[in-house]
Amino acid sequence: MEIPCTWKEKGYVCEPVPENTDMAAEIRRMAKEKNAVILAHYYTDGALQDIADFVGDSLALAQQAAKTEADLIIMCGVHFMAETCSILCPSKKVICPDVNATCSLAESCPADRFADFVQQHPDHKVISYVNTSAATKAWTDVVVTSSNARQIVESFPKDQPLIFGPDRNLGAYINSITGRNMLLWDGACHVHERFSTQKLLALKAEHPDAEVLVHPECKAPVAALADVIGSTAALLKHAVASKAQTFIVVTESGILHKMRQMAPSKTFIPVPPDDSIDTDTCKIDGQHAAMKCCACNECNYMRLITMEKLYNSLRHEWPVVEVPEDIRTKALKPIQRMLEISAQLGL
Ligand code: 13P
Ligand code: SF4
Repeated sequence: MEIPCTWKEKGYVCEPVPENTDMAAEIRRMAKEKNAVILAHYYTDGALQDIADFVGDSLALAQQAAKTEADLIIMCGVHFMAETCSILCPSKKVICPDVNATCSLAESCPADRFADFVQQHPDHKVISYVNTSAATKAWTDVVVTSSNARQIVESFPKDQPLIFGPDRNLGAYINSITGRNMLLWDGACHVHERFSTQKLLALKAEHPDAEVLVHPECKAPVAALADVIGSTAALLKHAVASKAQTFIVVTESGILHKMRQMAPSKTFIPVPPDDSIDTDTCKIDGQHAAMKCCACNECNYMRLITMEKLYNSLRHEWPVVEVPEDIRTKALKPIQRMLEISAQLGL
């Protein structure tokens, strides 16, 4: 019997894992045998985070890829993360266990439209969030993540006109804390757009002593209720270091797995999505019309990556993510620039 596999149409069959297989042990055995490194983002399922060699935020995952000595990189995350690995490591095989694990934010910024926008503003430098396709990065001067966006924006002279894409929420937040007036692309993440002040205020009323941890991809009214705004890694670091005992977490709920592991005596409360919020604004040509989030605020793309698919990916070394060389060389420069600035800043 086959198990459902979203990349079956691409000629690959996700086989069922043979009965009585110790999947975790087999994955680790194959990873060792093939000199593979398994990277996972904090938004993936807890079992994947536990089996990975490294779990991190977008910046840390790119940094790990850039320095790995593995022959095979398995990215348990979304497609743009695997593309970033492939751009940085052209001689290595990069695998994403489900290549349909895309990202609504990356999709809200198609490269051809972004190119038009950039060409309309020739005096602007272009800053792109890492949540973009390689083709969009190719139109960029420097890539940022939520861990380094503030510092990289501030590295430009104050009078330098800037474009920031694609996340309008992160861009507006960075404008507000730096006093810049960057021109923002009108994109957003369908997961973070679904957090509402109503649901958050209700949880704050129930847990008045809780600290509110918010990812900057959330809308400004939600971010205004935060005690801390930061990348997934920054929120995790704060949760571990803080004297508070209870935290309301306003980002994709996968991060709670690591928070609970790293601060087992503390209480972490996920904020559910507000189903009354229409995420049509995140759609380009209705592409996300068929996508439904579950009751918890999970990224349906991240959740396409499963242990079974990781097992099959390692076994068959498929599906490989590759970036055409002309795009790769153009996208490499802004990613390298980000890594260099981050290293200078000790990030
Ligand atoms: P960070 O992990 O860099 O905070 O990014 C969040 C995200 O949306 C990844 O897709
Ligand atoms: Fe993209 Fe949002 Fe999912 Fe992150 S949570 S991968 S930004 S769709």
